[in-house]
Amino acid sequence: VSDKAEPRQGVMEGGGAYNRNSMLQAAGMATALPFLEKAALSVAIEPGSHPLVIADYGSSEGRNSLAAMRLAIETLRRRIGLERPIFVFHIDQPANDFNSLFGLLNTDPSRYALEPNVFSAAVGRSFYEKVLPPDHVHLGWSSYAAQWLSKVPTALPDHFYPAASGAAARADFERQSAQDWETFLSLRAHELQSGGRLVVVQPAFNDDGGVGFQHLMSHANEVLIEMVDDGTIKAEERARMVVGSYPRGRRALLAPFEPSGQFQQLIVESCELSVIDDTAWAAYERDQNKDAWATHHARFFRATFASSLMLGLTNASAAEERRAFADQLEARLKQSLMARPAPMRSYVATIVLAKQ
Ligand SMILES: C[S@@+](CC[C@H](N)C(=O)[O-])C[C@H]1O[C@@H](n2cnc3c(N)ncnc32)[C@H](O)[C@@H]1O
Repeated sequence: VSDKAEPRQGVMEGGGAYNRNSMLQAAGMATALPFLEKAALSVAIEPGSHPLVIADYGSSEGRNSLAAMRLAIETLRRRIGLERPIFVFHIDQPANDFNSLFGLLNTDPSRYALEPNVFSAAVGRSFYEKVLPPDHVHLGWSSYAAQWLSKVPTALPDHFYPAASGAAARADFERQSAQDWETFLSLRAHELQSGGRLVVVQPAFNDDGGVGFQHLMSHANEVLIEMVDDGTIKAEERARMVVGSYPRGRRALLAPFEPSGQFQQLIVESCELSVIDDTAWAAYERDQNKDAWATHHARFFRATFASSLMLGLTNASAAEERRAFADQLEARLKQSLMARPAPMRSYVATIVLAKQ
């Protein structure tokens, strides 16, 4: 966790840690790339020389965005040639580690900025607000970001991860998620050009309501309880630790489009569910390196969720305390996983929308 950045709901671990520990998101995102390519082939392109605009909503530190942006740029280039400028906007919360993002855009060997006539910029503002001018975006992309809610509606007694909670208050998260999805879509509909496309890939419930990461989340929940039991954190701190992330299955993603098939000038082109297997588990089965498997998942968990959990700490702005909490959490989670290893399966949904 970066010592400088204040923790915020949904902000990933800084100092490039998310870039180093987001292979799971990369695997989920990869299932959506064929949809992105198809969308880039279908986007309406007006004649002329003014720039084409790609927006990456929820870019974090950018490692996973590189492959998606490169594919989008290469596909558009097949249609417009090399001369016409392409503008890429990376949007994320103000507390995001934009330094790592810019570092990557300037130095990574696979950076898309090596392409001629491609320009990039970042917007440090929530995607629950207007982030780009109206009728501006040709191609929108959002990967593993839209499941982060605009706020945590309530505390939960039994679990830090709302989708794994059995409490009645979980219904508040479902409502918040439905409301936020409509807000997100309305804002993006406004920003898209007519004939533009928006591709959103995010963690999902499967069609039977099953949730991914179940195994990892219950280990982490047990670890937090253990930390209360031995006095590492206080019970009231644990009670405040709720992650504001809620997956959307196909039913929830499609709900705003019922019954007319249209929502705010947006129509659905496709909505697909994929199962993401635990690639680190396959490596473990091959080499029996349990330590490597558990480290992989404990670091993924820390990079993705620790900043949000830290908001529950009484002294949440003290960098030392935050770091100590994250270190403890990661170490204990690793031990817990090593004691009971099991593959971690997850689900991801990709929805493709066209603006009329
Ligand atoms: C798990 S990361 C995904 C990063 C990258 N797109 C990927 O696929 O690996 C989620 C990102 O969404 C961002 N995010 C969450 N809520 C947001 C909001 N309201 N506005 C903008 N970005 C947000 C977080 O700050 C975080 O950087």
